[in-house]
Amino acid sequence: MSKRRILITSALPYINGIKHLGNLAGSMLPADVYARFQRLRGHEVLYICATDEHGTPAELAAQAMQIPVQQYCNEQYEIQRAAGEGFNLSYDWFGRSSRSQNHVLTQHFAETLEANGLIEERISQQVYSVDDGRFLPDRYVEGTCPHCDYEQARGDQCDNCGRLLDPIDLKDPYSSVSGSKNIEIRDTAHLFLLQSQMQDTIRNWVEKATTWPTLASSIAIKWLDEGLRDRAITRDLNWGVPVAKTDGTVRPGFEDKVFYVWFDAPIEYIAATQEWADANDTNWQSWWRTDQGADDVEYVQFMGKDNVAFHTVSFPVTIFGSKEPWKTVDRLKAFNWVTWYGGKFSTSQKRGVFMDQALDLLPADYWRWYLMANAPEGSDAAFTWEGFQASVNSDLANVLGNFVNRITKYTVAKFGGALPATGTPGEAEVWMATELKSGLARITDHYEQMEFRKAAAETRALWAAGNEYLTKAEPWVKYKHDVDAAAIGVRTGLNLVAIFAIIAQPLIPATAKTILDTLGIPDGNRKWPNADDTGLLDAMPHGMPITAPPVLFQKIEDDIVVEWTEKFGGE
Ligand code: 2FM
Ligand code: ZN
Repeated sequence: MSKRRILITSALPYINGIKHLGNLAGSMLPADVYARFQRLRGHEVLYICATDEHGTPAELAAQAMQIPVQQYCNEQYEIQRAAGEGFNLSYDWFGRSSRSQNHVLTQHFAETLEANGLIEERISQQVYSVDDGRFLPDRYVEGTCPHCDYEQARGDQCDNCGRLLDPIDLKDPYSSVSGSKNIEIRDTAHLFLLQSQMQDTIRNWVEKATTWPTLASSIAIKWLDEGLRDRAITRDLNWGVPVAKTDGTVRPGFEDKVFYVWFDAPIEYIAATQEWADANDTNWQSWWRTDQGADDVEYVQFMGKDNVAFHTVSFPVTIFGSKEPWKTVDRLKAFNWVTWYGGKFSTSQKRGVFMDQALDLLPADYWRWYLMANAPEGSDAAFTWEGFQASVNSDLANVLGNFVNRITKYTVAKFGGALPATGTPGEAEVWMATELKSGLARITDHYEQMEFRKAAAETRALWAAGNEYLTKAEPWVKYKHDVDAAAIGVRTGLNLVAIFAIIAQPLIPATAKTILDTLGIPDGNRKWPNADDTGLLDAMPHGMPITAPPVLFQKIEDDIVVEWTEKFGGE
């Protein structure tokens, strides 16, 4: 198998506020699992993420805390970086869209698009607060939704009916900064990206994208069918990328404006790669420029379904409109929502578990396993404490944990803690070898297809087959009259422990490492196994000393479920 070069990005989390388990499950976690899998396969992987720092939410949050927005972002960045580390997200780089690389690159794209006739200055009408003395873009204005009459709709979107809004369409608007209703609609100049001119280019590209999972391509086609509209890519704000040339000269009349956050955020995928390259004294072009080596890169994006249009239409307009040889996405994996008992996670209403809280309750692997085994792929998936408890207690503690403990403890007790060398394979071992071969092939295929729920289910099925094997081989029964017959069962069982941990690495990396470390499996032997390798069940050196790991997973008791349900607002 030749070595592939795989560029992976997960949607950039907004800087404001720690992310909840649903955000994690819909982009960063599956991207990490996929990155880990492909690294184990021996491919060259570059996994990039960053915080998405511009836009009104960050400014408003900073104002509420009465601190400068830059300071707010610095603090929040650290919190998100630490949460990612706590969840073992194996980013090669976790950047920030507010860094200089993104400023320069965003300005470069705007310059190039304008030179190509795709940006036009237009006068548009915006909401202006007389009392605040400023325009109120996006979330700076709230009011009644023109579609559903919800009274706290935000200028950019209604949280009740989900529709995207134009702030000037709100009924009874008021400033979310001061509450003032002294509102006027005033003319102001903005830059418009002429997306309508790119309709055919984008459609041709989307129609050729046969390797996109359906959720992504169907959303893209829907947007194209509705027709691409020109959109304003600047806002009347201070926090963001200045509307300037790459040489620093500000565009006249745009002194108090910045680029719209959704214009600069996806550009940060490239700019974060530049941050990575600058920090590591290496080259980013071979990942992003098809004229400089990126033509052989496979680019995979992970995101929630609400982000798909921005990645299949808006960002590609920027890329293709530049007429420069940038790498575009090859496979786009989109997710539905993880809900909290069918409803929304909410910080203010203390409903749901957020990334930092989760790690205070249990180690990352418990959450990683549950979230991927129940990944919201075909439809939304509800988090419930009962489901979480069942999954941890059954899959992790019983099926995997017990298997590992049983066989390793038995080796220590009866075989002096060394891998038995005697005994010959019989019927049970042949059965296990067949199960292993077919199971491994399925798991590998599911990961390649980015079907995470299926990959986890097949991983569990293989662990369960291991338990079934031990029931068939019965080393503890055989030991009483034939130690060699018991030895083959123990040896095969120990090899299974290693294989089970190796294939668990993408999903539960910390536990897998504990198992492999206690078994003494060298790093070089932790690569993804080949399903056709017939020596897998006898790969560990005979006589090799092993120790038994500590209990791997604590079961979640019913009273804890009651306590957490109360604390986090479950049903
Ligand atoms: O929806 C979100 O959370 C956005 N911050 C995602 C941005 S993805 C990329 F384009 F930057
Ligand atoms: Zn509405």
